[in-house]
Amino acid sequence: MMKYSFKNDYSELAHPDVLAALAAVGDIQFEGYGLDEYTEKAARLIVKKISKPSATVHFIGGGTAANLVTISSVLRPHEAIIAPQSGHISAHETGAIEATGHKVCTVKGENGKLSVAEIEEVLKSHHDEHMVKPKMVFVSQSTEVGSIYSKAELTAISACCRENDLYLHLDGARLGTAMHSPKSDMNYQELADLVDTFYIGGTKNGALCGEAIVICNEDLTTDFRYHLKQKGGLLAKGATLGIQFLALFENQLYERLATNANAMALRLAKGFEKHGYGFLSEPQTNQIFPVLPLAMAEKLSQQYGFYQWQPISDEQMALRFVTSWATRKEVVDEFVEDLSVAK
Ligand SMILES: Cc1ncc(COP(=O)(O)O)c(C=O)c1O
Repeated sequence: MMKYSFKNDYSELAHPDVLAALAAVGDIQFEGYGLDEYTEKAARLIVKKISKPSATVHFIGGGTAANLVTISSVLRPHEAIIAPQSGHISAHETGAIEATGHKVCTVKGENGKLSVAEIEEVLKSHHDEHMVKPKMVFVSQSTEVGSIYSKAELTAISACCRENDLYLHLDGARLGTAMHSPKSDMNYQELADLVDTFYIGGTKNGALCGEAIVICNEDLTTDFRYHLKQKGGLLAKGATLGIQFLALFENQLYERLATNANAMALRLAKGFEKHGYGFLSEPQTNQIFPVLPLAMAEKLSQQYGFYQWQPISDEQMALRFVTSWATRKEVVDEFVEDLSVAK
């Protein structure tokens, strides 16, 4: 019998407060295409949160759409974006960025993160009109392997971008768990000051669905709603996204949900450590990667959902466990008990 799935942080429908906010609107009429009062209020709350009155906010249904609309709205036809190999746009978006006509120049990255040296390497090797022109850099916070950029790391990348006339886009599908991680040394305002565009993920932090795209660089705001519409991202019932983000940001719900996901991941990590298991990389947010004997992983998978992530040897496997806003400590504690049984 399957007891619980640690496969991802979007297995639950939505936090009850988000559902209640949607239900409360029920048959009330609103303007279409995100021009309603809820969306406007939610956007204002986000602008306040990042202390950037000049920023603009647009809501969209999912992460791939957020990346592709934002990136393709910024780049001219011959321009490209630099991203780590593990970056979502490089590895998991079905060539969505390339389908808009822009090459993704990938670099190896370390622990899911790009370095300034890697950006400079790409710039050095793209020097004339016979090649694409790198014009944007992609980072994710947290990364696809659960790590987070420190303020110093992101500041260095941002400075490199500004020196080299590159825009910086930050994929925040899991921004909540990154910002509210005990390991984070950055606030929302500091992050917004360092990037040109980013998005705040709702799908993986208590929303039914939806992401909030934030354009910090005023030069990049022109005709954004045209880009949204042309790429199928402008919802007639856009209010459904505004209502959800209003619920998430009105009473620090977003922060509370991310904090729970992180706390449960930490509790789980301690459980693995207690039984003597290590990790592929240091647990920092709500995705953790314990290394277990393969036979034990197979046994545990009869009762729990998780991904086999990367073989370490013939007998050892790194696994991916993800906790969510809804994960309860009782479930984690039961898993840790089962871990000793499966040994
Ligand atoms: C970092 C990151 N970016 C983007 C996405 C894409 O989101 P979606 O599946 O909503 O298109 C995901 C989803 O897994 C993600 O983890």
